[in-house]
Amino acid sequence: MSAMGSDGLGKSICVVGAGAFGLTAVKNFLEEGFEVTCFERNSYIGGLWHSTLDPTQTSTLTGTVSNVSKHLAAYSDFPLPDDCPLYPSAKQVQDYFELYAARFELNKHIHLSTSVTRITRNDEQRKWMVTTKALDQPARAQAFDCLIMATGSLSRPRLPDIAGLNAFRGEIVHSQNFKNPSQYAGQTVLVVGAGATSADSIGYLLDAGAAKVYLSHRRKFVVLPRILRGKALDHNVSIRLAIIGGFIGKFMPKVMLKLRSKMLQGWQNEAFPGLKDHPALTGARLSGNPENSIPLISDHLPDLLLSGKVESVQGIARITGPNSLLLTDGTTLDHVDAILCCTGAHVDFSSLLPPSADPTNPSLAPDNFAALPPHYRDTGRVPLLYRGIISLQYPHSLAFLGHTLVLPGSTSVNDLISMGLAQLWSGKYPFPSQTEMQAEANSFYASLISTLKNGEIAHAGIRSDLAFSRWLHEVAGTGLFEHVGSWTSWRCWKLWWSDRQFYKMLLDGVMSPHAWRLFDIGRGRKTWNGAREAVEKANADMRVLEEREKRRAEEEKCGKRGLKGKIA
Ligand SMILES: Cc1cc2nc3c(=O)[nH]c(=O)nc-3n(C[C@H](O)[C@H](O)[C@H](O)COP(=O)(O)OP(=O)(O)OC[C@H]3O[C@@H](n4cnc5c(N)ncnc54)[C@H](O)[C@@H]3O)c2cc1C
Ligand SMILES: NC(=O)c1ccc[n+]([C@@H]2O[C@H](COP(=O)([O-])OP(=O)(O)OC[C@H]3O[C@@H](n4cnc5c(N)ncnc54)[C@H](OP(=O)(O)O)[C@@H]3O)[C@@H](O)[C@H]2O)c1
Repeated sequence: MSAMGSDGLGKSICVVGAGAFGLTAVKNFLEEGFEVTCFERNSYIGGLWHSTLDPTQTSTLTGTVSNVSKHLAAYSDFPLPDDCPLYPSAKQVQDYFELYAARFELNKHIHLSTSVTRITRNDEQRKWMVTTKALDQPARAQAFDCLIMATGSLSRPRLPDIAGLNAFRGEIVHSQNFKNPSQYAGQTVLVVGAGATSADSIGYLLDAGAAKVYLSHRRKFVVLPRILRGKALDHNVSIRLAIIGGFIGKFMPKVMLKLRSKMLQGWQNEAFPGLKDHPALTGARLSGNPENSIPLISDHLPDLLLSGKVESVQGIARITGPNSLLLTDGTTLDHVDAILCCTGAHVDFSSLLPPSADPTNPSLAPDNFAALPPHYRDTGRVPLLYRGIISLQYPHSLAFLGHTLVLPGSTSVNDLISMGLAQLWSGKYPFPSQTEMQAEANSFYASLISTLKNGEIAHAGIRSDLAFSRWLHEVAGTGLFEHVGSWTSWRCWKLWWSDRQFYKMLLDGVMSPHAWRLFDIGRGRKTWNGAREAVEKANADMRVLEEREKRRAEEEKCGKRGLKGKIA
């Protein structure tokens, strides 16, 4: 274990936030011999997965269910418990985080009910000065060599700019403050935005007895079910598919985008054929594509749209009266009691970090963010970082979690990200040059601007290209792409020759994060003895589910035939 980190820095590290991503950072840095201190302002770990009625905090509601299967949502060396359903509830995910923290003895490194109130930089001593305030204690400042900001990317509500808002007499609320659906019983509610939060909120509103729900959205969207073709949705992708997609994407990026759109559209048509001609997903609206939007995963929204229980309407043009508004297609809606804005969030580090370290600070951007469209500059806030993770100003000591979006499982991917970061900062993986880092950030920024020309984007950190995943695996030292699907690597040939069935499972089966802990490539990163069994278990679960779904479909077919016979 080396006493020094990269660039001759020491190994004390502060992690701000003990949500899903901060927790795994604590674990991975401890494993690399860092002295880790984590501050969490809440009295619990798990961040937004802990349902809270506090209106200033974004959180799951008790009815929230994960949109990633338990197999892909897991940390790489800690599967979700066997008795957890395929898609765990918020409470089960929260319990899982508690188990993870207990298993790896993380709690003693986490200071609960302790807010970080200010961070300054002492360049002379090369330290981060972190001021904290714990309940009933005076403020305290401590010095650290390294700093990880894991404060969450969904905590600052992004509210739409609605013309004439002052005239509205009903309630206008952002989803962050939407904690008690029953208060809308009997009311007409207009839900703005067509993301996962909006789909979930619509379900809660109708369950709570809302009289009428409108879904106001600017763009067409793709909606997918949690179970597709008898498998969990994310079991339908594999390393083989990702490699083929990556190959096409490298040489023909536009073709790949089209293919991916077509695939998602095809999946939607297969799952919800009735939606094909539905006005919500057709007509004059702008289209989303995989570059600028995330498919919406919802099992209930399609039925609600098709049955008319939810009415899809256009975006809001302006408020026209105490309870009425005009839509962009000229339609007027009257008697609207409440507007629920499920319009996402933006990031803001300005209250915590010094301007010299704030990656959203325009004066640190090469063009002061002048190329960003004005509406986006104000509310979108782009963190300019190397690979969406590492500070360009302090690459050896400052990083940010939660600002890259790599589908499908954000919890597991952030395990991989912090594993890689720990390798870089412990000096086990060579650091890229400043020029290389700046060039990568500039190129990502340029691609973001070109994407924004085609309309809004759902997340400024979408990184769906295989090259990004390959880089993560390379830095983290998982050895995955050397062992699977790489015919120029002897490790791949060896595995293929000696263990063909398992090789095929890795290539074509569930993209299990446990595979990241299988191989030791001699860098000292921790593998996990249970990894193979966990990968096999995930694939066995998938087969059981497939069989069950096949039987269910056959029974349904037989039932329909029987019914037809009876009617005839
Ligand atoms: C309703 C909902 C459902 C979701 N479902 C899924 C899903 O199914 N699958 C998926 O992959 N993603 C999902 N997401 C995305 C989600 O953002 C990530 O899964 C993940 O939980 C984010 O973790 P985080 O640690 O970055 O942020 P958070 O969970 O927000 O944690 C950040 C932590 O930092 C703490 N903190 C902030 N500021 C300070 C400070 N100054 N001092 C001390 N502590 C501080 C906060 O208290 C919090 O505990 C969902 C998001 C929402 C809102
Ligand atoms: N059950 C679950 O698993 C679950 C539940 C909730 C959230 N999540 C996750 O949490 C993250 C955030 O989800 P989210 O739904 O809160 O946010 P989101 O994915 O960012 O979606 C925001 C929606 O608001 C719209 N919007 C943004 N600004 C607008 C404006 N000014 N006017 C009108 N519409 C506007 C967007 O429309 P355009 O498309 O037109 O830009 C988009 O449809 C996602 O990663 C999601 O997967 C998961």
